[in-house]
Amino acid sequence: MSSVLNVKLNKKPCYEIMFEKSFQALGPAVKELGFAGTKCCIITDSSVGPLYAEKVTNQLKKAFKEVYTYTFEAGEENKNLDVVRDALKFLVEHKFNRKDVIAAVGGGVVGDLAGFTASLYMRGIDFIQIPTTLLACVDSSVGGKTGVDFDGYKNMIGAFKMPRLVYINTSTLKSLTARQYYSGMGEVLKYGLIMDGAFYEWILENMYGIFDLKADILGEMIERCCELKARVVEQDPFETGLRRTLNFGHTIGHAIEKYKNFELMHGECVALGSVCAAYISWKKGMLDMEDFYEIRDMFVPFNLPITITDIDPNDIIELVKSDKKATDKGVSFCLLKKVGKAVISDDVTEQEMLDAIGQIHFTEDDAKE
Ligand code: GLY
Repeated sequence: MSSVLNVKLNKKPCYEIMFEKSFQALGPAVKELGFAGTKCCIITDSSVGPLYAEKVTNQLKKAFKEVYTYTFEAGEENKNLDVVRDALKFLVEHKFNRKDVIAAVGGGVVGDLAGFTASLYMRGIDFIQIPTTLLACVDSSVGGKTGVDFDGYKNMIGAFKMPRLVYINTSTLKSLTARQYYSGMGEVLKYGLIMDGAFYEWILENMYGIFDLKADILGEMIERCCELKARVVEQDPFETGLRRTLNFGHTIGHAIEKYKNFELMHGECVALGSVCAAYISWKKGMLDMEDFYEIRDMFVPFNLPITITDIDPNDIIELVKSDKKATDKGVSFCLLKKVGKAVISDDVTEQEMLDAIGQIHFTEDDAKE
């Protein structure tokens, strides 16, 4: 492996995504970017820091005189403004100036929070993304969305802030739990469903290699996802249209995530939301019944849920309506015309949503029967 993908903004090269199997090329790549600052702050969490902060520090020392590490307690519940404030304080205390740099080392929570901190400090300093989860490699580290949750609402406060580099070291994925790894597959499957039927078939054909984290399969899978995402964000960096298709499965998914108080992983909620969106697509006459069942069942081998207990469907609807994807006109939904072709719909009714949630929701009594 070892390859590079250029991501453009306004048709001009903006940053590179490097696909590597170790951290060896990180230091030279960062040096090459020629930052004027002399300091770098790694922002990481208590799960990832002990594994990789030292290795990353050794690399970053090739490009910066001083490398500091700010570590916060792992968990979605810490993706909030209090932790951002604490990180900003750390930068002030260590006398960071506007030429200095932040390096996000971790999963989606770390990348979102570190990027947002970079967007705020002295009205914005440079940052680089070093994702260490599948979800962060294929989705959250690419495209410049940063932010935190607010009052339990997912990603409610944030900014678009493009990284200067995304450095993917696929060997870090070996340290993920099976649950974390498969959570990332929720986003991988999304790309096949919304924009690339051939990739969807490829995933199914290479399922066993994916289960076994076979390096070449994993590398190809991550690169293809990044290529697909780059294609979307280059056309619509600030989500005025096409980028909304990347929210497939997220409308109901985010509501479930909040309802369950973030006990389920993001990709698990995306899988549940995707089943609902595919169901609505079928009921609106876009997909065939066979397509719906095939899509639903395809999440199962990847250990992603397609059913859930103990939710109140009406509460889920209320949460959907309060999501940031809701507008005065209603809720924006990404639906499927076919596998590999998404469409945005603003006319999904509450009854259609309730029927869709009925497809995934089972009560304790149903389970006993
Ligand atoms: N995660 C969806 C996006 O970046 O637009």
